[in-house]
Order: sequence, then structure tokens, then C-alpha cells
Amino acid sequence: MEQGLVATDTRPEPTVISIFGAAGDLIWRKLVPALYNLFVDKWLPDQFAVVGVDRKATSDAEFRQHLRESVDTFSRRGQADDATWNDFATRLTFIADDFSDQATFAALADRLASLDKTWNTRAKHVFYLALPPTMVETTVQQLSKAQLCHERDRARVVTEKPFGRDLQSARALNRMLTGILDESQIYRIDHYLGKETVQNILAFRFANALFEPIWDRRYIDHVQITVAEQVGVEHRGGYYDHAGALRDMVQNHLLQILCLIAMEPPVAFDADEIRNKKVDVLRAIRPILPAHVHRFAVRGQYDAGWIEGERVPAYRAEPGVAADSCAETFAAVKLFVDNWRWQDVPFYLRTGKRLPVKVSEVSIQFRPVPHQSFPPSAVVDWQPNRLVIRIQPQEGILLRFQAKQPGQTMHLRLVDMQFHYRDVFKAAPPEAYETLLLDIILGDATLFMRADQVEAAWSVITPILEAWEAVSPVDLPDYQAGTWGPESAQVLIAQDGRSWLMPTLAEETRP
Ligand code: BG6
Repeated sequence: MEQGLVATDTRPEPTVISIFGAAGDLIWRKLVPALYNLFVDKWLPDQFAVVGVDRKATSDAEFRQHLRESVDTFSRRGQADDATWNDFATRLTFIADDFSDQATFAALADRLASLDKTWNTRAKHVFYLALPPTMVETTVQQLSKAQLCHERDRARVVTEKPFGRDLQSARALNRMLTGILDESQIYRIDHYLGKETVQNILAFRFANALFEPIWDRRYIDHVQITVAEQVGVEHRGGYYDHAGALRDMVQNHLLQILCLIAMEPPVAFDADEIRNKKVDVLRAIRPILPAHVHRFAVRGQYDAGWIEGERVPAYRAEPGVAADSCAETFAAVKLFVDNWRWQDVPFYLRTGKRLPVKVSEVSIQFRPVPHQSFPPSAVVDWQPNRLVIRIQPQEGILLRFQAKQPGQTMHLRLVDMQFHYRDVFKAAPPEAYETLLLDIILGDATLFMRADQVEAAWSVITPILEAWEAVSPVDLPDYQAGTWGPESAQVLIAQDGRSWLMPTLAEETRP
């Protein structure tokens, strides 16, 4: 029997998770490996079941076999052991049918009722929509017609990104959802919020007295948020080509990180209080005027190149991508948060595919000392303090400061004080989807996006989207795979007399 990280007596109430899109990629790569790990860790109730719903005709046995392979491939624990898997697998069943057909929902209602009868209880119902956005509305309407989501305390609906493709469509989606469901029933996922290191930003800032007094414009020169990926679009060209990096990453993951870095201290650690404070940040972001977009945002697209010694194709040569595609695979944005704490402190955000390393990192760049008392010969290496929050991989926090190099002469050198998760918390942290799924089952919405949050995030990037859509770039592709993005990204930050900081992970892996 695999040993779980946690054994707990306070398990959630009986729950059935119905996953729409059960033949898809998300359930295979993320959802079932995460549920399986929650099961191993004894976080799931004894009365727990998963009902997969999809068009593809599949028997329960085939469904289970397919998901066993997913767990063996993607679980952080590696291959499942037979006894534990067999116990888990008895809880997995499949309904093959069309989401637009009311009969599918009648069959689902029967399955849920029969589980209640067997368990002699009234289980909670989670409806997980792992579906393309176009199918969300029909599915929720069908759930409603089948009377499956009318009980506010019993039914929860989970939606994946993309949540709309601009402010208008996000508003329409919110209107539709809140016309049928109460806001408290809706769980909008941003998987970055489930990452341990992202949650730890709150602990770091508000459980320590040391940093908060200097966490403002008086001490901080600027903030950089980098989310770099080595992978290209993989098999998701069809989706990505209509999204681009701004919609795919900046509107959600990067803006959520910015919110956690910039928000005011919450009065209490509860869902609405934390989400209110985050919305305050998004609302304070200075709107970018259409005529100024080029000074605040740049895009790029990767050409063929080399990643770790391997030749990789250009974006336009990827499957599912148009040969003349103008979708951006790189985006860099400069934002200001107009409030007392952050006035005039730039937040530089960048993300891209096919960059030299996979790393997500926040750098808080402090201001220089007000007066340099050391002789020039002592400070050749001198740089202001920098705090780095490494979100992934090699998760940790690093504080960079000056120290006197041992010896008879006064020579200052940069040194790092480092905290690494792997050294301190020996056990592997749960995956983001484990945390998020457990929160959904428990009914804790703290890590999920409220309607106003999603809309505020779209408002921030809408001027950029509109300006980019109005004018097709002529010079794409404009960065080689395996480099740090287009020249224009360097110009964006250089015009402020600053430069992109090399992520600390890339420094370490540099030959
Ligand atoms: C997803 C994006 O939300 O996040 C993908 O759609 C991206 O394009 C992924 O690759 C990155 O997630 P992670 O957890 O690997 O940093």
C-alpha cells in the first residue's frame, strides 16, 4: 500500500465528481492523477465517485484502464500499486452521450440518485466542465433543466480557462452562469493559484513582520514577473492559435501573481476578503491608452531554433497552426498600480514559449542604497538587493545582498541567502490540481476566481488585445526558439533604463 503524506480524520462529505470532457486531455494528465493522489493521502471520503461523461462510447472497464495509464504516467508518485488502484478504480464509471441531449443528463441524474441510495446519503455534486468554451453554456443549461444544480449547498460547477476571450465574452459568460447558479457555486480555475509557491506568497508577506514595512515604493524600484516555458504549443495549436500568450498566460496566471505581490494585507484569511484585496489591485492598474500600447506591451513569435541541443520547428510549422499565423507566443507588458503603495513602481511581466529554460520567478528589485560610502574599487560587482520568489522549478526564495569578500582589501561581492522547498520540506508538495480539487470538494473558494476578478483582469488587457488585433505585425517570427524573446522586449524595459533580470535558475544552469 502506498503511504500517503497525510492521514486525516476530518474528511469531506460524500461527493460525486461528474467530469464532462472525460475523453479529453485534462482528465488524463491532471484531474485523475490528482484525485488518485488525494485518495492515497486519504483526503477523499469513503463515499466518493467519479462519473466521466463524453461522446466517445467507452465501457467502464476501458475508462478505468485508460485512467490507470494516466496515473502511471503523470502521478507525482509514479506508478500506482495494484491494490490501491483497484480500490480507487471501483469508484470510476462512464456515461457515453451527447452534452446537448437531455437524455444524457437524465442518465446522470439516475446515476447520482442511485449512488445516494447505495450510500444512504445525499452526496455533494461537483460538475467539472473540462470542455471547450463553446460547450459550457449548453452543458450548464442542461444541468439546470435536469434540476441537477439548483441546490446551492449541494451542487458546484467548475469551469476551466479560457474564461471568455475578451471582456465582453467573459461578461456574457458570467451573466449566463450567474443567471443559473449562485456565484458561490461557481469555481473558476486558475491552476497557478493552486501551486504551493504561489500560495506561499501570502504566507511570506503576511506571516512575517520583516518584509511588509519595506514592501512599497519607498524601497522597491520595480518588480519583474517571468513565466518562461521551453515547450512550444505541443498538440494545442488549434486552441493556442486563437488565443496567444496574452490571453493564455498574462490575463490569468501572471496577473494573479501580480495581485498576490501587490495586494494589501487581508483582514482575515477568508475567500471573499482575499479576493476583494486582489480585485482592488486589478482595479488600480493604470489603464493603457490605445495610442500608448506600443510603449507598454510587446509581442513576439518563435522561429525555428535550438532548445537544449535539439532542433525545434517554428511556431508557424507546428500542427494546427496557420502558416501565416500572427498569434503571439511571447508577450511582455509594463503595468503600474496606481495607489499609495505602488505609485510609479513598474511591474514588468513577460511570458513566452520556446524560451531557453522553464522557470517561473518573481523578482523584487529593491532601490540602491541612498549613498555609496565604499570606494569604487570595492563595489565593482555592486547591485541593489533583490528578492526572488522561485515559483517553479526548484521552488524556493532567495535574497541577494552584498557581503565583504574575505581578505585584506575591502571588496564587496553579491551573495545569496537561499531557502529551497526540497531541503526544508522533504516531502514532495501536492500538485496544484490536488489542492484545487480538494478545495472544491470542501467548498472553499479562496483560490478560485470570482466573476468580478475575471472581468477586472480582462479590463487590464483589453486595450492591448484591441490594439494588437487592429494591426497585424509584419515581422513575425521575430525570435529564435531558445532565446529570451524578441528584441522589442529588451527595448520595452531599456526605455526605462532597466533590463530584464536573468532568472536565477538560468544563472545556475548557465554553462
Ligand atoms: C496553461 C497554459 O494555463 O499553463 C499553457 O494554457 C501553459 O499554455 C501552462 O503551458 C503552463 O503551466 P505550468 O503549470 O506548466 O507552468
